[in-house]
Amino acid sequence: MFFKISLFKRAALYSTFLLCFSCILYGQTILIPIETKNTAVVLQTDKDKNLLMVYLGTKLKSAEEYAYIPSMYSRGDDYSGIINSVYTPSGSRNLVEPAITVTHADGNTSLDLKYVSHLQTKEDNNISLITIKLADPAFPFDVTLYFKCYYNEDVIEQWSVIKHMEKGNVLLQKIASANLYIPGNGFWLNQYHGDWAREMQPEETKLTHGIKVLDSKLGTRAHLYQPPTFAISIDKPATEDEGKVLYGSLEWSGNFRVDLEVDPLNNLRLIAGINNQASDYLLKPAENFTTPAFLYTFSDKGRGDASRNLQRWARKYRILDGNGSRLTLLNNWEATFFDFNEQKLSELIKDTKKLGVELFLLDDGWFGNMYPRNNDKAGLGDWQENRTKLPSGVGYLVKEAEKNQVKFGIWVEPEMVNPSSELYKRHPEWIIKQPKRSEHLYRNQLVLDLSNPKVQDFVFNVLDTLFSKNPSLAYIKWDCNAVIYNAYSAHLNKQSHLYIEYIRGLYEVLKRIRAKYPKVPMMLCSGGGGRVDYAALKYFTEFWPSDNTDPLERIFIQWEYSYFFPAIATSNHVTDWGKQPIKYRTDVAMMGKLGFDIVVSELNEKDLKYCQQAIALYKQKSDIIWHGEQYRLLSPWENDFASIMYVDEERSNAIVFNYLVSNRYKAGSTSPVKLKGLNAAKKYSVREINLYPDTQSPLSQNAIYSGDYLMAVGINPNVRDRRPSVILEVMEIK
Ligand code: GLA
Repeated sequence: MFFKISLFKRAALYSTFLLCFSCILYGQTILIPIETKNTAVVLQTDKDKNLLMVYLGTKLKSAEEYAYIPSMYSRGDDYSGIINSVYTPSGSRNLVEPAITVTHADGNTSLDLKYVSHLQTKEDNNISLITIKLADPAFPFDVTLYFKCYYNEDVIEQWSVIKHMEKGNVLLQKIASANLYIPGNGFWLNQYHGDWAREMQPEETKLTHGIKVLDSKLGTRAHLYQPPTFAISIDKPATEDEGKVLYGSLEWSGNFRVDLEVDPLNNLRLIAGINNQASDYLLKPAENFTTPAFLYTFSDKGRGDASRNLQRWARKYRILDGNGSRLTLLNNWEATFFDFNEQKLSELIKDTKKLGVELFLLDDGWFGNMYPRNNDKAGLGDWQENRTKLPSGVGYLVKEAEKNQVKFGIWVEPEMVNPSSELYKRHPEWIIKQPKRSEHLYRNQLVLDLSNPKVQDFVFNVLDTLFSKNPSLAYIKWDCNAVIYNAYSAHLNKQSHLYIEYIRGLYEVLKRIRAKYPKVPMMLCSGGGGRVDYAALKYFTEFWPSDNTDPLERIFIQWEYSYFFPAIATSNHVTDWGKQPIKYRTDVAMMGKLGFDIVVSELNEKDLKYCQQAIALYKQKSDIIWHGEQYRLLSPWENDFASIMYVDEERSNAIVFNYLVSNRYKAGSTSPVKLKGLNAAKKYSVREINLYPDTQSPLSQNAIYSGDYLMAVGINPNVRDRRPSVILEVMEIK
C-alpha cells in the first residue's frame, strides 16, 4: 500500500483520522508505527514535515496510543526541534551529531530532510518492508529509509539509500545506516574490545552525556580491536532474564562507526554506519548510494531473550545454511604448522577417519614455489601447490581423503600478498600501498586492492580454480590476516572511496563464489575473530571466533559471542592450548561447531577412545546444539563454574554444559543450577553423558524430575576440581 502526501496539498487529509497499513493520521501529523511481535519503533511527523522517532520499546496493544507518547515528556527544548530526527541532517538547524553530512554540487553544506511518502510491502507472513522517502525542499536531494521487520524474531534491519539530481557530484561526508532515538532514564553500554587471541572482551559502562564512539579504521581484519556489535540496556543494566535491552550490529566488514550520544534531554541518540573517517564519497547525479544495514533487536525480558531472537534470526535468515548441518573436522594447523608433506598429510587423513570426524582441513603452507610458503614470510599470492611438499598436488590429497571416506577442505587467504611472492613482482599495481612511502607490513603481508575488478577476478579465480580442479572439495577456510596501512589504490581516481569500494569488491567476489558454489561450507576467519559480522556471514556457514583455543579462555570468548551469534556458526577446535584434560577441551568445543586440531597419533588409548565417543555423542546431540534455544545459566565471569544450556523446539530434549573456571580451594557447584526453557508440566530424566572411559558419574543416572522442579530448584552437576567439566542430558519421559 502506497501512501503519499504532497507537501502542499495535505490540508484535506489532515482533517481526517485515517488508519492505514502502517500509518495513522492525527490532525496535523502522521504516525508510522514499525512493529514486530513485541517491539515498536514509532515515527511521527511534526507540523513542518520533519520525521521524528518518538518511541522505541515494547509494542503497545493499541497502536493509536503511540500518539500520546511525545506529550508525556517535558524534558525541555532542544532548540532545533529535530534532536530526535529519524535521520538527522546537518548544516541547517541541527545542533547535535548528524546522521548525514553532505556538500552539494554548488558547494553548499546545508541539508534538510522532510517527510514525503511511505510505503509498506510484505515479503511473506513474517517479513515486511517499510520504505520512507525524505527529501530536501531546497535541493533535488533525497534519502529513502528502509526498515525490514522480521516479525517473529523481533529483529529490524535498517538502511538508507541516498540519491540526488543536482548539476554535479555531491560529496557524502557522513552517511549513517540508522539513526535511533531512545528515551530512557540512563543507558548502559555493553561493548567489546580485543586483539589477536583476546577477542570479545566485554566492558559495561554507564553512558554519560556527550558522545561515545565505537569504531574501526583498520580496513580489513576490521574487527580486530572492536566489533560492530554491542548492547544497550535502558533504565538499568539488563540481566539475562530482566530489563530492557537493545542489541545492535552493523552489517559491514570494513570500517564502521557507532555514535552513542546521551543528549541534553537525557535521551540516547544512536547513529550507526560506515565510518566516515577518510571516506568522503562522491555521488554522481541519479546514482544510488545504499548504506549497509544496521541490525537491531529490542527485548524487555533481558539479554537472554534478545540473544535468542538474534540467534533465531541468524539461523533462519542470515547464516548460510543456518538451519542445516555442519561437518566435524580435523585441522592440521596446530598439529603441523607449515611443516608437512604429502606423506604426513596422508597419515593425518587416515587419522581423520580414525578419530571419527567427517573432514580433513588442510591449513596454511600448501602453496608457493619460487617463494615457498614454509613460514608466514613468503608465498601468499602464489596459489599453486608447493611441488616439494605436495608433488602430486591437492588432487592427490582429495583422493586420499575419498579413499578414507572423509571429505577434504582447504585454507586460503586470497585477499593478501607477501612481498616475497611472484604475485607481488607481477602486479605491484594490485597492492594497496602509498607510492611515495615505504611499505608497512602486518604479519609480513600486504592487502590486495579489491576495489579493482581485476583483483576481484583474481580472488574469485583462486577459489574457482581450486574447485574446478577438485570438484569434490568440501570446505573452505577463508582467512584475512592483515589490516590496511598506507591506504592507496592505483585503480581508483578518488582515494577516499577505497575503504568502501574494498568491502563492496569483497562482497562482489563472495557473491560470485556463492552463485557458482552455493552450498560448499566456508569458514570466515580473520587471524581469529578479526572479521565477524552479519554482512559477511551471508556467504559463510561458520566463523572462527579466535586463535585462542585454550578452553578456559574459550568459555569466556564463546559466552560473549553467543549473545550475538548462534552455536551452529561458532567453530570450536580442540587443540593443545591450555593444560586441561582432553575431556574438558572437547566438552568446551562441543558447545558449538566441533573440530579438532591435535596430533591424533599422539593421543593415548583412553584419550583417543574418549574423543571417538565424544564425536559420536556430538553427532547425536548436535541437532539441539545447532538448532536449539540457548540459555546462559551461570556466567563464568561471576561464578566458579559456567553453565550453558540448549533446548530443542519442543522443550523435550536439552543438554547442559558445565565447566569449572576457578582454581580456588573447593571451587565448584555448591548449589543447584536452575535450568531454563523446559516445560514445567513435563517430566524429564537427567543423566551425565560424555564420561571419560572407566569413570563413573556420582550423579544419580536414573533420576526423574518435573520441568517445574528443574527450573525452580535445579540440579547440581557436581562440578569440582576432579570433575571440571560435566555434560548433562535432559530428556522428556513420556
Ligand atoms: C590465522 C588463522 C589460523 C591459521 C593461520 C595460518 O592466524 O586464524 O587459524 O589458519 O592463520 O597461517
